[in-house]
Amino acid sequence: MLNPQLNKNGELQHLLTIEGLPKAHILHILDTASSFVSIGDREVKKVPLMRGKSVFNLFFENSTRTRTTFEIASKRLSADVINLNIAASSSSKGESLLDTIDNLSAMHADMFVVRHAQSGAPYLIAKHLNDTMQPHVHVVNAGDGRHAHPTQGLLDMYTIRHYKKDFSNLTVAIVGDILHSRVARSDIHALTTLGVPEVRAIGPRTLLPSGLEQMGVRVFTDINKGLKDVDVIIMLRLQNERMSGALLPSAQEFFKSYGLTTERLALAKPDAIVMHPGPMNRGVEIESAVADGTQAVILPQVTFGIAVRMAVMSILAGN
Ligand code: CP
Repeated sequence: MLNPQLNKNGELQHLLTIEGLPKAHILHILDTASSFVSIGDREVKKVPLMRGKSVFNLFFENSTRTRTTFEIASKRLSADVINLNIAASSSSKGESLLDTIDNLSAMHADMFVVRHAQSGAPYLIAKHLNDTMQPHVHVVNAGDGRHAHPTQGLLDMYTIRHYKKDFSNLTVAIVGDILHSRVARSDIHALTTLGVPEVRAIGPRTLLPSGLEQMGVRVFTDINKGLKDVDVIIMLRLQNERMSGALLPSAQEFFKSYGLTTERLALAKPDAIVMHPGPMNRGVEIESAVADGTQAVILPQVTFGIAVRMAVMSILAGN
């Protein structure tokens, strides 16, 4: 399977990654999300687009924002949502991932939303569903290892478009632990596909993966140079759970060299926005005054995430 997330007609069958996702699909998801944003302000926050469908949330890794907003999005689309408690499920007794999937499919699942510490786990499930002739069951990658977090990438693009209107004249800086970040990878693929002329990666050498330049990214190890005149700053969390070995002297040292402070924010354009996918470590990658300041759009990102996830699920469900 060359692009297992598209069917033979080029339609979205699963959402596994932004890499290779055509620009038209990304824009269609963002435009569909626009039509869902105002549902949150209505008295009845529901549309019947997935009535009778069953969405299974399978979070093998911790989550606050993604799991909850997928649940809210499912409910707003009128789907039945089942949150599998992984710790209390048979996977803790040694059942394989695909056996769990087969059993949930036997319960007539229509969609699996999957977060997993292993890169590629959602691909494995999507391939298994295709191989076992279940093309009507869809998989959404809610974050796999350090590989991809496509709905975070899409909600980040929605947020940027909301505040900046146009991608074609922007400079976007992604700062911090890029090496371990699935969000950074999804954002870079989305930004370059949408035609952002300058994407910058800023971080210490030990947290910058090789091959960034080949992805069209300008690399900076000096944050003061990297933040100069940018329109958008995307801060990343230090992903200690994925680090092997000592890649940094200490969190305090990291903050001193790469933390986003009020002084450093002043290097960006005066109307620059500050984003963060969360969870946020105050005083490690970002100063509280910046996180809570007027340029931060971190909480609107979370709210837009509901509409973006509604858009992804409703498109996959055939609407
Ligand atoms: N951004 C993000 O994925 O947050 P959670 O880990 O809380 O889902």
